[in-house]
Amino acid sequence: MSDEQSTDTLNDFTAEQADARRIVVLISGNGSNLQALIDAQSYGELGGEIVAVISNKADAYGLQRARDAGIDAVVLPHHEYENREAFDGALIKVIERHEPDLVVLAGFMRILTPMFVHRFHGRLLNIHPSLLPDYQGLNTHARVLADGCTAHGVSVHFVTEELDGGPVVMQACLKLCEGDTEESIIERIHAREHLIYPIAVRWFLEGRLQLGPKGPTLDGMLLPAQGMRLSHEDAAEELDEEIDD
Ligand code: GRF
Repeated sequence: MSDEQSTDTLNDFTAEQADARRIVVLISGNGSNLQALIDAQSYGELGGEIVAVISNKADAYGLQRARDAGIDAVVLPHHEYENREAFDGALIKVIERHEPDLVVLAGFMRILTPMFVHRFHGRLLNIHPSLLPDYQGLNTHARVLADGCTAHGVSVHFVTEELDGGPVVMQACLKLCEGDTEESIIERIHAREHLIYPIAVRWFLEGRLQLGPKGPTLDGMLLPAQGMRLSHEDAAEELDEEIDD
């Protein structure tokens, strides 16, 4: 083949675009974590595309955030279904219509049935406002403060049948000080969530993060029980927060 021929061949060649990885996000409320994912996507930092946002509540503000970003926003009111199984069955159908690679729970305030969790096993992530396995369940900030803990934070984890009990992928710590209240920490908690959730999603979509038989792996290495943990100082630095000595 002459040089000229090979150049022409290359000029005619159009690389096939790999299909973007597809994400479905489930919400029930404000959707600030959804917004962090939308923002990361708009900067080309999410590793995929949010193809649908589904809420069990019609008045969830996150639905508006989705619409503003041109994302399909779907309402599936849970009270219209006879029981948990019926709702989760309908939810599975709506999700699967969008053929997701990953399903992201972002403030989705529903206990999921085993059927649902098994269907998306290994491709279902959640974010929780505590350093899991501590403080599973609701009202984490109030309970942490009432116990006088100084170590708090947020966790991203794969979802299993145990509520907030699935293997942890990533954490960001927040040191509490005397005098801290729920109001005083909420912004720093959210900032940490918005920092780590898009990273975990990107790792998953890039194929770096997987749920193996022994637990989550990153680049083939088994993660420790606390996942990849950002210390308070590292998180504060990333977020340009003032660090107290
Ligand atoms: C977050 O604090 C998350 O940890 C918990 O629900 C809250 C959702 O907040 N699972 P938002 O709707 O993303 O603002």
